[in-house]
Amino acid sequence: MPRTAIAALGTYVPERVVTNDQMSGWMDTTDEWIQQRTGIRERRWVEEGVGASDLAFEATKRALAAASWEAGDIDAIVYATLSPDATFPGDACFLQALLGLPGVPALDIRNQCSGFIYGLSVADAWIRCGQYKRILLVGAEVHSTGLDKSNRGRDVTVIFGDGAGVALLEATEDPNRGVLSTHLHADGRYARDLWCEGPGSKLDPRVDGALIPTARYFPKMEGNKVFKHAVVRMPQAVREALKQNGLKVSDIKLLVNHQANLRITEAVQKAMELSDEQMYSNIQKYGNTTAASIPLCLAEAVVARNVQRGDLIALTAFGAGFTWASALLRW
Ligand code: COA
Repeated sequence: MPRTAIAALGTYVPERVVTNDQMSGWMDTTDEWIQQRTGIRERRWVEEGVGASDLAFEATKRALAAASWEAGDIDAIVYATLSPDATFPGDACFLQALLGLPGVPALDIRNQCSGFIYGLSVADAWIRCGQYKRILLVGAEVHSTGLDKSNRGRDVTVIFGDGAGVALLEATEDPNRGVLSTHLHADGRYARDLWCEGPGSKLDPRVDGALIPTARYFPKMEGNKVFKHAVVRMPQAVREALKQNGLKVSDIKLLVNHQANLRITEAVQKAMELSDEQMYSNIQKYGNTTAASIPLCLAEAVVARNVQRGDLIALTAFGAGFTWASALLRW
């Protein structure tokens, strides 16, 4: 049975840098508060009129160049986002059109911060069963247009950034490369602890003047609850993956966890007794980019940590739903 290897990664973030100091001009917050609580120094936000699929398109062009593939080499698109260009259709169709690939299947994944690993799991199953050989896996977000920039939303708004990361996945027969396993979980009892209610089908009409003062169209988060679950679930998911493959923490060359908050990453590192060399963070520059955060971080981390062919990489994520997931792969 073939395995799923990463042929190349590609990333793209908008040019516009938004610093913590800029944010303190719009709401009661400070650079010190944001850095202390989250580690974030700045994030990228799009200019008006740019959607998640535009960021995904730029990231995909870079990945195609790195892999020396043509767009036409892609057999299927799997696209994770919670901030699609439109309510429907999904972003995978918009990206497919930008890439000029009519007829190629385009699947959207709605699993928030765990979306990239959920997508990897689906793509891996397709490749292993032989349905497709070359898959474009995308994580892309534009949060900035959907955030509450008043004091009311300051706990959420300071955290999130825009960006895109993609992986070109290919079937390989090489036993020393590729995805070993993926592990997916969810607990919908916490669905309303990190969510954006509207516009949604339970609201009739979905959008009208009465919705505006309620702010139900902005994301809401029980930050403490999210934090407490994240620091338990991510280590748990990685241990589950190691156990299934008969591997240990010391076998991991690099762990890339969803960049939710630097304090969460530090807690994951401590809980798993991982060294600084086994970890990598870039939330300082980009904030939390949800489905894009793992590929954005992985692309930098493999270079910074000098990852070599065959090295073991662990991925893990936690986010709204609640959902959480892990994957083990050999580079
Ligand atoms: N700037 C300044 N003060 C802020 C603020 C901001 N941007 N946001 C909230 N505060 C205030 C709160 O109003 C509160 O004030 P009070 O003590 O007067 O009530 C105080 O800071 C402490 O708030 P609290 O929510 O207890 O802080 P915290 O230490 O839990 O940190 C988060 C808040 C959001 C940073 C933290 O809970 C967190 O990171 N959670 C996980 C978030 C996450 O990762 N989400 C994405 C998951 S994928």
